[in-house]
Amino acid sequence: MTGASADALGFIRLTEVGPRDGLQNEKRMVSTAAKVEFVDLLSAAGFPEIEVSSFVSPKWVPQLGDAADVFARIQRRPGTVYSALVPNERGMDAALAARVDKVAIFAAASEGFSAANTGGTIAEVVARFVPVVRAAHAARIPVRAYVSCVVRCPYDGVVAPSAVRRVVEQLLALGADEIDLGETLGVAEPEDIARLYAELASVLPAARTTLHLHNTNGRALDNARMALQLGVRSFDASAGGLGGCPYAPGARGNVDTAALLAMLESAGYETGVDGAAVERAISSITHVLRADAS
Ligand code: HMG
Ligand code: MG
Repeated sequence: MTGASADALGFIRLTEVGPRDGLQNEKRMVSTAAKVEFVDLLSAAGFPEIEVSSFVSPKWVPQLGDAADVFARIQRRPGTVYSALVPNERGMDAALAARVDKVAIFAAASEGFSAANTGGTIAEVVARFVPVVRAAHAARIPVRAYVSCVVRCPYDGVVAPSAVRRVVEQLLALGADEIDLGETLGVAEPEDIARLYAELASVLPAARTTLHLHNTNGRALDNARMALQLGVRSFDASAGGLGGCPYAPGARGNVDTAALLAMLESAGYETGVDGAAVERAISSITHVLRADAS
């Protein structure tokens, strides 16, 4: 792919998830003001979508308990979609009150992670999302649906692609507008990504998925390259490579936005994202996290 022109290769949609996936996994609390500055700097970078926070139980993820305040204080750039995770109807009500542009529901392909992360079986969690999707669509808000542990689960081990396909089918039947495949542990190899997409081909073209790669084993960029070859055109990334899930022991950060951007640009893809502005956002949050750690 190297050397091909941007015109030839086309557009890749990047969703910046650092403010949500990144900050949910920091041990210390980051102030609301620092989160707002981080999101505003990311907005200036021109991402089509920024996952700002989560309207989950603060008992489960206290780090993001200020989601409503963050949404109230950010400056919204026209053209950017500001989204948030919602786990249930209560979270949906709060998300609507905060005027989110899009919501993300989240299920798992493994029972162990479903129980640990959302306190229910896969079937229970999918059922919980029925009224959430209905409310989102009544408010004309699109729904992203994550499937976590698409390759491996911290509790159940290897996850079969067919288990992922079954959950994807259920989420599509619910009316999800976007399927986001979460490689939660960051341990996949490119062949795992190829096997996964081969299994999903009959239910969903690769070009209609988003891929959410964690980078524990340092293979996220290789996995992204494989996904590009398979036709994936939408990726999540996290500024500074922050990220992880408090309920996925062993999971490290997401693929770093700057690294993914550099790889995509050198391969000839367009993203509309300004790398220098991303660096300013990374400096801002890194400074805050370093100061907090001292
Ligand atoms: P539960 O304990 O089974 O349910 O949690 P509950 O209804 O008993 O709620 C517990 C308490 O939370 C109650 O308070 C509720 O009122 C309150 P109490 O009565 O004890 O005072 N509560 C809420 N408060 C505010 N907003 C709400 C809300 N809901 C309940 N929306 C629940 C079930 C789903 C709520 C919980 O399991 C939860 O919040 N889980 C979220 C965990 C999470 O956010 N994990 C990280 C995100 S997922 C991820 O990182 C993976 C991803 O990045 C993709 C990938 O990498 O694979 C997306
Ligand atoms: Mg994640």
